[in-house]
Amino acid sequence: MRLFDRPILAIETSCDETSAAVVVGREVRSNVVASQIEMHRKWGGVVPEAAARAHLEAILPTIQEALDRGGVGLRDLGAIAVTNRPGLVGALSVGVTAAKGLAVALGIPLLGVHHLEGHMLSVLAIAEALPFPHTCLIVSGGHTELVSVRAPGEYVVVGETRDDAAGEAFDKGARLLGLSYPGGRAIQEAARSGNPRRYPLPRGLSGDTTDFSFSGLKTAVLRLVEKEGDAIDVADAAASLQATIVSVLTERAMRAVDRMDSSALTLVGGVAANVALRESLAAACKRVGVAFFTPPIDLCTDNAGMIGLAASHRLAAGERDDIGLEALPNADL
Ligand code: KG4
Ligand code: ZN
Repeated sequence: MRLFDRPILAIETSCDETSAAVVVGREVRSNVVASQIEMHRKWGGVVPEAAARAHLEAILPTIQEALDRGGVGLRDLGAIAVTNRPGLVGALSVGVTAAKGLAVALGIPLLGVHHLEGHMLSVLAIAEALPFPHTCLIVSGGHTELVSVRAPGEYVVVGETRDDAAGEAFDKGARLLGLSYPGGRAIQEAARSGNPRRYPLPRGLSGDTTDFSFSGLKTAVLRLVEKEGDAIDVADAAASLQATIVSVLTERAMRAVDRMDSSALTLVGGVAANVALRESLAAACKRVGVAFFTPPIDLCTDNAGMIGLAASHRLAAGERDDIGLEALPNADL
């Protein structure tokens, strides 16, 4: 696979992390994330207007830090890449506007990147011999999809959630259990000392499917909290919730691998930071002789490094956007 050989400055502002990275080929030279988590914590979730304003404050210092840590100056850059879809439109606009200004001022190419393609190609950083086609499980706060990746840029969705995303199941479950925002990491921490078999929870869809449904899980956790009241063991509930989500994701992913006759599975997106999920899929793949790739944790949760990797492939193929590049709240892959 050909990759762009000059330094790319990549920018990601689609949700609640302001991020900038310097990427050369498949090498992520710097990947700076200015998190807004503390600010949104007091509201228990992302407030779009506040997110956009915080991106505006953080964007220039974050870009400068990425350049400094990456050891490059503005004049060394070969292209600017930016997440332009999908996401919170006010948040996206901050990154897109900064990217356009830099590309025009420096006279270098501009490229808009789909956030999910960034997640999917984040594995380029670690898997030089990534086989195509392969199956990809994308699990984030907004998406849960199984995708057949025929080649970089050629994606066929082979399974998806019919309601909540896996990340939402973690986040909503955590909120019901009184754990902090964002929920995924809080559930993982609480689950450490818990018994995953204590509270049986529903697995959503049954039968021979590669789709997901997590909304029943949220309702079941709500019922459990109502029923147990103060007697609830939060660690056991967190462990039970995590084990159920991990088990469902593993079962469906391995079914998709089998159906597609894939030689490899990749795990990407914010929920890919979950250690129990990483271990479960690694073990399942090992059992059936399928290669398993998942990026290091800092490339799983939202970051600009993954946007630079996806751009590296598209720029090398000659793709460019012009100054008319728009920030789009919704967009298919
Ligand atoms: O990809 P991402 O950073 O943002 C979106 O594009 O949505 O994913 C965020 C999601 C949140 O739901 C968060 O709770 C979840 O990833 N997450 C985790 C972990 N770390 C982040 N879920 C489970 N275990 C984790 N360790
Ligand atoms: Zn994401």
